[in-house]
Amino acid sequence: MLKLIKRCPEYVSGYREYCQESYDNNVIYFLPTNPKLIDDEWFDRTKDWYDKKETEQIQGQPISFHFWAVDGEKFIGEFQLRTEFPPKVMSDIGSIGYAVRVSEQGKGYGTEILKQSLLITKEHGMDKVLFTINDKNTVSAHICEKLGGELMDKIPSYNDAEGHHIMRRYWIYL
Ligand SMILES: CC(C)(COP(=O)(O)OP(=O)(O)OC[C@H]1O[C@@H](n2cnc3c(N)ncnc32)[C@H](O)[C@@H]1OP(=O)(O)O)[C@@H](O)C(=O)NCCC(=O)NCCS
Repeated sequence: MLKLIKRCPEYVSGYREYCQESYDNNVIYFLPTNPKLIDDEWFDRTKDWYDKKETEQIQGQPISFHFWAVDGEKFIGEFQLRTEFPPKVMSDIGSIGYAVRVSEQGKGYGTEILKQSLLITKEHGMDKVLFTINDKNTVSAHICEKLGGELMDKIPSYNDAEGHHIMRRYWIYL
């Protein structure tokens, strides 16, 4: 059964495998940590930074909460929630970022992560979330629409991984 949990040392090796799969498969839509950086001290080294991200803006990043998706001992993917709507959220990264490791895609995990993430979002007192999705990312757009996403608009966008592209912006009202 899929669960969304807070980051914890027990799943670091699974997280590293997930990151490696993303890099090996040139995933561009939600690129995680470079697996080369995830050594034995990585969790302890980064813990304060992730904790701080939940309470304040650091390095221009909006406040965000990070979760890992696991099924038993298996590491499945991740989910990030941004609880405010600064310009970076509105015109770049959106309220929610999530991904499923390449070897586990197409089995329903992405839909389940999103369903559970919307419950967590409500617990954070939010009544809507914004999704920013590359127009070519039809799988992500499909899941968003399946869970009630209402298309607001399509705008030109740019980031290093995706280059210049058209971005769809959807609201899900909770
Ligand atoms: C988007 C992502 C999380 C989906 O995860 P997943 O586990 O494969 O998703 P699911 O198995 O729950 O659902 C896939 C859905 O896409 C549908 N689908 C498959 N190929 C598709 C395509 N080319 N176009 C549209 N829909 C497609 C499937 O039929 C399924 O829908 P259904 O359950 O209604 O039949 C995963 O592809 C991923 O991690 N991608 C890279 C990161 C990313 O894009 N994150 C989102 C950023 S906004």
